[in-house]
Order: sequence, then C-alpha cells, then structure tokens
Amino acid sequence: MISDIQAKIMQLKKEKDIAILAHSYQSPDILEIADLKGDSFKLSADAQSLPQKILLLCGVRFMAETVKTLSPEKTVILPVENATCPMAEMIDPKEVAAYKRDHPECKVVAYVNTTTELKAVSDVCVTSSSAVQIVSRMEARDILFIPDQNLGSFVRKNCPDKNIITWNGCCPVHDKVTEKDVLEMKKRYPGYKLLVHPECKPEVVKHADYAGSTAGILSYARNTDANILVGTEKAIADTLALEFPQRQFVPLSKRLMCQDMRITNLVDVYRAMQGLSGCEIQIEEQTRLKAKNAIDEMIRLGQ
Ligand code: 13P
Ligand code: SF4
Repeated sequence: MISDIQAKIMQLKKEKDIAILAHSYQSPDILEIADLKGDSFKLSADAQSLPQKILLLCGVRFMAETVKTLSPEKTVILPVENATCPMAEMIDPKEVAAYKRDHPECKVVAYVNTTTELKAVSDVCVTSSSAVQIVSRMEARDILFIPDQNLGSFVRKNCPDKNIITWNGCCPVHDKVTEKDVLEMKKRYPGYKLLVHPECKPEVVKHADYAGSTAGILSYARNTDANILVGTEKAIADTLALEFPQRQFVPLSKRLMCQDMRITNLVDVYRAMQGLSGCEIQIEEQTRLKAKNAIDEMIRLGQ
C-alpha cells in the first residue's frame, strides 16, 4: 500500500515534471516510487530517453554525475548532498595524469564508480559486467585499471594476454568479506548457489558460482530455483526475498551494507523535490566532454 509521503511524492512528480531514478541498492519504499531503477550503468544509459527535464537520483554522487555527463541538458539532483562512494574518490586525477605522462603506451581503464574528473583522464570506462569484454577488445596490451584492485584482479584473471596494473583502491563494503566468511557460510548453507560482486576480494570470488554486476546477480537469481548466498549489498538479498518469498536469500556477510547507499530516505526525496535539500550536479563542460569520451568508448566496445 502506498504511504502518505509516497502519495505526496507521486503528486509532486507530476506537478514538477520530475523523474525519480533509483539504484537497485535503495530501500523498497524508494524503489516503489521510481520511474527508472537498475544498476548504475542502466540508470545513466536509460535516463537519456526519459521525457522529464528534472531527474532526481537516489544513489550516490558518481551515479548522478554519470547521468549528468550523458544528459547535460537535464537538471540532475542528488537528494542527499553527502551520499558519496568512497571508492569513487580514492584517487587524485593528477596522479593518473602523471602516470599517463610517464607511461604513454598504457591505456587507463576506469571503473564507472569514479568521479567525473577521473573519467576525464581515462581512456575508457567499464562496469563490473562489461569490464572483461571491454578490456579484451582493447588494442593496447598495457592497461592501468582504476580504482578497484579487486575488479582489476578479476579482469586480469580473465584477460591473460593483457598486462594489467591495478591501483590500490577498493570498495570498503565488498572488500570486508573474507574467504573465512565464505567457507563458513557454504558449510552452513549447503547446496546454496554463491553469487558475488567482483568488488569482493579474489579469494572470495574464486568460490562463486557466478561473479558479476548488480544486474547480473539479480538476473542469475531470477533465472534459477536455487536458494542463494548473496555476495553483494544486503539490499539485493532483501529485494529478491520480497520477489520470491518461497526461496531463501542469505547475505554472505552482515558487513555487506553500504551506509552511503542507505543514507537517502523518502523525506530526503520529498524535500529535494521542493528544493529544500540535496544538491544540483554541476560539471565543467571541458571535463564533461572528456569524461563522456571515456563513457562513449565503453558503449562502443561493449556492444
Ligand atoms: P553496479 O554498477 O553494479 O550498479 O554497482 C554499483 C556499486 O556501487 C556496487 O557496489
Ligand atoms: Fe561505493 Fe562500495 Fe558503496 Fe558501491 S557499495 S557505493 S562501491 S562504497
């Protein structure tokens, strides 16, 4: 049933011509009132064809920036100004630019979980689901992969003919899962399929029946009857449990909760729609164009 505040938000959406975009990690009450939901790539790609001029993104800043980079004519609002992904901001773009100067033969591959400034000094972006395909299709052999060393290791393992150098960044949430957690949970839940995000450590990923993006994990889970150990943000286990009440979806670790992705609530959404909280995403045009090149290259190589 729709709550009072959800009804008010729906009314405001119509009055102000606002579309709500919600990442799959958001709470069910936000996902219920969203016009577009999905992983970070789907949100930014599909936002381009939404008719609304104002887009309110429930997620973290790099996702709102990616939407703005691809839809500069739209007003993009992040309802909670300090909802950020720590991994996206782990590297100073100047360090990457300096590395490129010293290694002109090396191409820079940036995970989409990066700031616009980092994308702007990169040659191509990747998502967790497209990283292996894109890197394997690149002409260059020498690759600097930023910022996630775990996803970088996953790509290295799957692209043995490339020389992949990783930065020492990581997702502080996924990186906390240990191999010990996996072994304990597999023993406690025999027969469960293990699905993990490649932001987890290689020693965790190696035990997985499937490793892939949020969208990939959801799709795998929806296309099997098995019970599942969910190796990504707990919200994904909760979403699947609501969809399939007769099956079991157990988070791989209690630590799989991202405070930044959980910070936004319906009151923030309502207030941001009235201009009372949140912030509008602004990107300097030259930086946007350079970042867009890296995203366009991702789309070209990912097809
Ligand atoms: P996706 O790109 O799969 O949406 O992941 C975003 C994220 O922050 C994973 O931790
Ligand atoms: Fe960033 Fe990790 Fe949170 Fe995703 S789960 S937003 S990668 S900190």
